[in-house]
Amino acid sequence: MSAHIIDGKQIASQLLEDIKANIDQRVQAGKRAPCLAVILLGDDPASAIYVRNKRLACEKTGIVSIAHNLPASTSQEELFALIRQLNADDTTDGILVQSPLPHHIDETEILALIDPAKDVDGFHPYNIGRLAVRQPLLRSCTPYGVIKMLQASGIALKGLDAVVVGVSNHVGRPMGLELLLAGCTVTSCHRHTKDLATHIGRADLIVAAAGKAGLIKGEWIKPGAIVVDIGINRLPDGKITGDVDFAVASQRASHITPVPGGVGPMTVATLMENTLKALELREQASSARV
Ligand code: GUN
Repeated sequence: MSAHIIDGKQIASQLLEDIKANIDQRVQAGKRAPCLAVILLGDDPASAIYVRNKRLACEKTGIVSIAHNLPASTSQEELFALIRQLNADDTTDGILVQSPLPHHIDETEILALIDPAKDVDGFHPYNIGRLAVRQPLLRSCTPYGVIKMLQASGIALKGLDAVVVGVSNHVGRPMGLELLLAGCTVTSCHRHTKDLATHIGRADLIVAAAGKAGLIKGEWIKPGAIVVDIGINRLPDGKITGDVDFAVASQRASHITPVPGGVGPMTVATLMENTLKALELREQASSARV
């Protein structure tokens, strides 16, 4: 059997078109376009590529993007001051601080300072908490993008045995919460998991988010399972690969996402959706106050 390859690029492109149509309508009605502030510290090449992709998606959808490119030596206090200024600026709808941050900056404190109503990455403890209590507002982009991608592929999630590999704050944990919300029976695997192969072998849906090339062997996959690979790993020859052994897994799975071209574009598209949503939510909140 050869799996259906889920084309994340195409699904994301459709989502961007829908967002653009919505923003065009707003602007025609005399309302303003959403505005996203993107903060990048230093010159990490991978971060520069991610930030460029986000800027291009803003251009495609009509979102105003404002780049704050700061030196790696920027102090935590300077970054705090910028975030406070953006929190207070009524025309800024989304604030994104690209990670990883230089080691002298405490990422947890930075993320906690962002106004949850402008937290378009969906990383703030308030937004993770909203998802945990089944009242999601701004949802973490990658996990939410995975759910939207599976829905667009006609996959019914209710009742599936899902295994998430990786428990990071930004991806693995909110991914488990998203799948729980969607009605899956969720198992989270991590570095202390005793028998990863057995958990994978039982799963109807595997979401790999460990960041380790080749961690998930193709022969572990149950025939007909759905495989979503969030891993982005650079091999010594410069090629990008996921966490799953794609060649073998794609002969056993019913559906599989490629790396690149799978989840990555969905993360960017859901960031655009969150930025529009952040503006709409703040407009609703301010009209409720008057
Ligand atoms: N670094 C890698 N991926 C991401 C992301 O989705 N958001 C932020 N803020 N930083 C990242």
